[in-house]
Amino acid sequence: MVSHFESWLHDTAAHAADVLDELLPPPEDDDPARLHEAMRYAVLGPGKRIRAALVYAAGEASGSPASPTTAAQGLALDGAAAAVELIHAYSLIHDDLPCMDDDEMRRGRPTVHRQFDDEALAMLAGDALQPLAFDCLVQMPIAPALVVQAVQLLARAAGSDGMVGGQAIDCASVGQPLSIETLQHMHRMKTGALLEASVLLGGVVAGASSGVRSGLESYAAAMGLAFQVADDILDVTADSATLGKTAGKDAEQGKPTYVSILGLDESRQLLLDLREQAHQALLPLGPAAGRLRDLADYMVGRTH
Ligand code: IPE
Ligand code: IPE
Ligand code: MG
Ligand code: MG
Ligand code: MG
Repeated sequence: MVSHFESWLHDTAAHAADVLDELLPPPEDDDPARLHEAMRYAVLGPGKRIRAALVYAAGEASGSPASPTTAAQGLALDGAAAAVELIHAYSLIHDDLPCMDDDEMRRGRPTVHRQFDDEALAMLAGDALQPLAFDCLVQMPIAPALVVQAVQLLARAAGSDGMVGGQAIDCASVGQPLSIETLQHMHRMKTGALLEASVLLGGVVAGASSGVRSGLESYAAAMGLAFQVADDILDVTADSATLGKTAGKDAEQGKPTYVSILGLDESRQLLLDLREQAHQALLPLGPAAGRLRDLADYMVGRTH
């Protein structure tokens, strides 16, 4: 039977995909049509939309029952959710390029450079998604000071102190025996930063109090790391059909991962510890944080 949470996640993912569909350049826009087609192909593929779900769940956790989400806040949450999914989709296009992980499958379909048989086009599609993400934030119908905070949050999470920096460390670490501290640092940057930004953006849009924000920060730090630990485990334990991407890629390419450094059992234990940390961080937020709690369980228990 589908649980209440699963049906919320399904509906939220579908809603996020509709929002993205609306804001991407239309398919019939023929100037330059192939670039627009590649952007739409990358973003609208069947992703889990976890980052979008985190934005909405954090927004829900941040509002007070006395002041429910306004229509403007709802639209702003849509903008923030779309923005993080756009940055994520761009990071995946580039991650799959031959100069990075050289992958041929993503979200159960050929990667962008394979589908269009054009590496330059794939690179440019990723490039074009990035400014579009910031455009989404700038259009959020909330106080300008909050928009500025949101733009800064996402810019920092995506840049050299965040996702791109983590990817640079990843590329430079192939075949190297990393310390667990360096590995953790890399994971927090390449994957954790954007997941953390998703949670914090939900808080900013919903006007979270400083107490709520600090709970969100601790939750996000734990889950941001947990997500890449789970990704490393799944690379070893799941098959390509279930993952929708090539399994076993990390070992094949000599990538240092939690599994290669700690082994499977310790990595799984770490995942459970991080889930516990995330649950603890949410306690002061009370029942409003129920969806974030469920999302932590989902991210830790996911099979793809
Ligand atoms: C995959 O992210 C890349 C990582 C950062 C580990 P997801 O597992 O969220 O990918 P999609 O969006 O569902 O395809
Ligand atoms: C990717 O890490 C992180 C980003 C895209 C920023 P991985 O290289 O492990 O992601 P997958 O396994 O290809 O999805
Ligand atoms: Mg990679
Ligand atoms: Mg990869
Ligand atoms: Mg991986």
